[in-house]
Amino acid sequence: MTYTLGFGGVNVIHRGSAVVADDADLVGLAEIAELARVSRTVVSNWRARDERFPAPIAELRAGPVFARDAVRRYLRRRNRHMAHVISTINLKGGVGKTTTTVGLAEMLSAEFGKKVLVIDLDPQTNATTVLIGEDRWRDLNAQKHTLVTLFTDALRPDGESAKFDLDAALQRKVSPVSEVRTVDLLPSSLDLIDVQDRLASMPSGRFYSNNPTDLLRRAVRPILGNYDFVLVDCPPNLGIVTLNGLRISDGYIIPTIPDVLSTYGIPQIQARVKAFADNLGETIHEIGIIVTKYRAASTVHRTTIDRLLNDEELPPVFETVIPEGNAIAASAEFASTSTLRQKYQYQGGYEVFRDLAKEFIDAVEEAA
Ligand SMILES: Nc1ncnc2c1ncn2[C@@H]1O[C@H](COP(=O)(O)OP(=O)(O)O)[C@@H](O)[C@H]1O
Ligand SMILES: [Mg+2]
Repeated sequence: MTYTLGFGGVNVIHRGSAVVADDADLVGLAEIAELARVSRTVVSNWRARDERFPAPIAELRAGPVFARDAVRRYLRRRNRHMAHVISTINLKGGVGKTTTTVGLAEMLSAEFGKKVLVIDLDPQTNATTVLIGEDRWRDLNAQKHTLVTLFTDALRPDGESAKFDLDAALQRKVSPVSEVRTVDLLPSSLDLIDVQDRLASMPSGRFYSNNPTDLLRRAVRPILGNYDFVLVDCPPNLGIVTLNGLRISDGYIIPTIPDVLSTYGIPQIQARVKAFADNLGETIHEIGIIVTKYRAASTVHRTTIDRLLNDEELPPVFETVIPEGNAIAASAEFASTSTLRQKYQYQGGYEVFRDLAKEFIDAVEEAA
């Protein structure tokens, strides 16, 4: 018999008479010390003195065990090396998801001194090519050092060894803007398109096959603690690849052009993400809607923003609005500049993204 307890995403699997916990979701005191990069003694002190310290799920002979997610939340509150992981989602393409993700990553790094990891899950690979350029992407893709290898590993027959090499795939200090020094990237590949379909139709009985939404989480767990923010650029759908992004996310943002078609899918995203999180016993916060490519002269744009602001069911709308502008369109190119001011020089693009990053940090920290 297999069942899932409804707290903290802890899977306690009951096989016959033995209760085996999925070690991915449970941690002991030693592991908490490792996560927080402090000694065991420090963790014991927190536990003894800090009433916010999570209660154990069980007391085993080896010691107490805790739900990893509860521990993560606790450590984040203590600010101990826990990254905020935020996905960027919209069911429509061309709405500024990648522009927003990359702009935020670069601002968080250069203006706010944050360490950022961008995870590109979109087969269109735009975030990847904006950050490292086509040539370097081609080399990586030829050597199979992209996230597609992580997903194809799950499709290999049992017994075949995994090929994904996190260290080789992780691109450090990316971005052609020289003042951006603390953005890393896990690159995507065009081949993700058919991987998505193959994962969805995977026969049961294979390694991972009962949980193909957990692949990314298992792979990146060792490095998440190295960052302040992890931004996941998702494909424009709610398929298995996107669910892998959501699985590691504390929240999500929805960039959207303020028109009917681009905003149409927002309630569906909310419902699906909530159902997914509920099923895991976790919370994935609705950080907010970010209005992109705004044209002040457009009546549709203005009325759509009003509608977004007035609909209580929808996520909050960021105050900062990204106007449509040539400098922002040009930011999609891999072009060297020394500062973000130069990159977004015209039409106030620099101030817009800086304000957006500030608002983003506040919203994310408040949600946590
Ligand atoms: N504020 C903006 N003003 C002008 N062009 C923009 C703006 N935001 C994005 N674009 C352009 O629109 C296209 C789609 O944007 P992108 O961020 O790639 O969308 P998505 O990731 O949602 O598909 C790109 O060519 C990009 O340069
Ligand atoms: Mg994109």
